[in-house]
Amino acid sequence: MTKLREIYYCPICGNVIEIFNEGASALVCCNQKMQKLEAKSEDSTLEKHVPFVEEVEDGVLVKVGQNQVHPMSEDHHIKFIEVHTKDMVLKAELDPNGAPEATFPVKIADIVKVREWCNLHGLWEA
Ligand SMILES: [Fe+2]
Repeated sequence: MTKLREIYYCPICGNVIEIFNEGASALVCCNQKMQKLEAKSEDSTLEKHVPFVEEVEDGVLVKVGQNQVHPMSEDHHIKFIEVHTKDMVLKAELDPNGAPEATFPVKIADIVKVREWCNLHGLWEA
């Protein structure tokens, strides 16, 4: 069975899907089973992927890379950042030419987790 909010990836065509209603786990794309993305939370590479949350006046600012900003280009970028609360998912779809950050109108105390997807390095969460 799939689980709510899981993300699946097709390594052939690049489709990425998120589960909004649980069902059979037989997700197929390009005639192959889609791969479930497991979020990583520790980054030992020079590029930093783990999202960092900072409280701001009207909510939270989520940055990808606390001390080092993740690159943003057509070839390598952060596609989206999500903030999960108990009953909501807030998603910002990022422009490859913009900054790897987004502001969300949510109280920091209500956040269950934040995650982001890098088109080259996968899913990351904090
Ligand atoms: Fe990356």
